Amino acid sequence: MSHSAHGARHVAIIMDGNGRWAKQRHLPRAMGHRRGVEAVRALVRAIRPLGIDTLTLYAFSSENWKRPEDEVSDLMGLLRHFIKSDLNEFITNDVKLKIIGDYRVLPGDLVTLIEGALAKTAGGRGGTLAVALNYGSQQEIVRAANAAAARGVITLDSLAAELDTADLPPLDLLVRTSGEVRLSNFLLWQAAYAELYFTDVLWPDFTVGHLEQALTEFANRERRYGGR
Ligand code: IPE
Ligand code: IPE
Ligand code: MG
Repeated sequence: MSHSAHGARHVAIIMDGNGRWAKQRHLPRAMGHRRGVEAVRALVRAIRPLGIDTLTLYAFSSENWKRPEDEVSDLMGLLRHFIKSDLNEFITNDVKLKIIGDYRVLPGDLVTLIEGALAKTAGGRGGTLAVALNYGSQQEIVRAANAAAARGVITLDSLAAELDTADLPPLDLLVRTSGEVRLSNFLLWQAAYAELYFTDVLWPDFTVGHLEQALTEFANRERRYGGR
């Protein structure tokens, strides 16, 4: 597919299936998460070649705190490691990092790392990687509604302007891996007219080629937005 021929500016992915990937191989769940990070790395490198403006990845939901403490701490550790190991590559590739969700309640050293990475990549013009951390769409909408109400009457535009995604392009394509067909509290408002794409591929097995397949299907969808 030629550069941007698919027309998707903003693609979001619910990266699901790390646990099942590990289970199938009789490996600890942590190994599934670790391989999941490898899949992320390959996709981030493909943002520009694929002609996408913004790639939004659901990394940790506000409901994922319900998981056992050791799994939560494995995930935080992987995030810490990912930022440390990949930040220079982001800077080299001119990728801007963005966080959606309330990351300020994460462990303090991670918050510091994240804020450093945000500052160092703020000028990036080669695409945006938005990572959803401690993100819950319903919580985001409540926060946004309160902020919009504090400024006056709530309208579609005034509420949208307070969402964590306010500075991102409209969501075009929402992908979920692992065969689950639900949104799990991700981008509920933003997905109003997004195209949805579900695949059985488990996240650690998801490649740039799989994303290209999704983009090809997206290019062939007819978006109507209620018109005709
Ligand atoms: C997705 O994989 C990663 C996160 C939610 C952090 P899961 O850990 O949900 O994997 P499954 O759904 O149990 O296979
Ligand atoms: C959604 O996956 C959250 C992330 C991918 C980060 P989950 O595995 O947490 O979703 P449910 O529990 O199956 O709905
Ligand atoms: Mg899951």
